[in-house]
Amino acid sequence: DNSEKNVTDRLHEVCKLLNDHIDYYDWVGFYFRNGDKEELKLRTYVGEPTDHEIIPFGKGICGQVAVSNENFVVPDVQAQDNYIACSFTVKSEIVIPLFKDGENIGQIDIDSETPDPFTEKDERFLEFVNQEVAKIL
Ligand code: SME
Repeated sequence: DNSEKNVTDRLHEVCKLLNDHIDYYDWVGFYFRNGDKEELKLRTYVGEPTDHEIIPFGKGICGQVAVSNENFVVPDVQAQDNYIACSFTVKSEIVIPLFKDGENIGQIDIDSETPDPFTEKDERFLEFVNQEVAKIL
């Protein structure tokens, strides 16, 4: 069924699969637009707890993707000035927008403790994951 709880549980399973099987995916979460507010809300994740459950549009890597509608690959988080740090052990990040009926409604966010691990393969793979996820939303 597509009740809110069931969908969240399935999104959590996706996070867990990715985190379990890809060794440089150390934190995996889904953010979605929070109602009609200009902000993202964390829906589910696997990894260390974060203080950033809500991220205003435009802030950090996630908030920038909410407005750009484009993938954002960060090989070195320390080199970014508009970045929200969740943990000092994180070295790199990838954020891929999630589209439903052509609209950017959220994103998958992955943090890595490995420097510069993400390639175009990750981008294509995570675009595919988001397309599959959009079907259950
Ligand atoms: N680093 C993100 C914030 C979310 S945490 O990675 C979970 C950002 O700059 O938007």
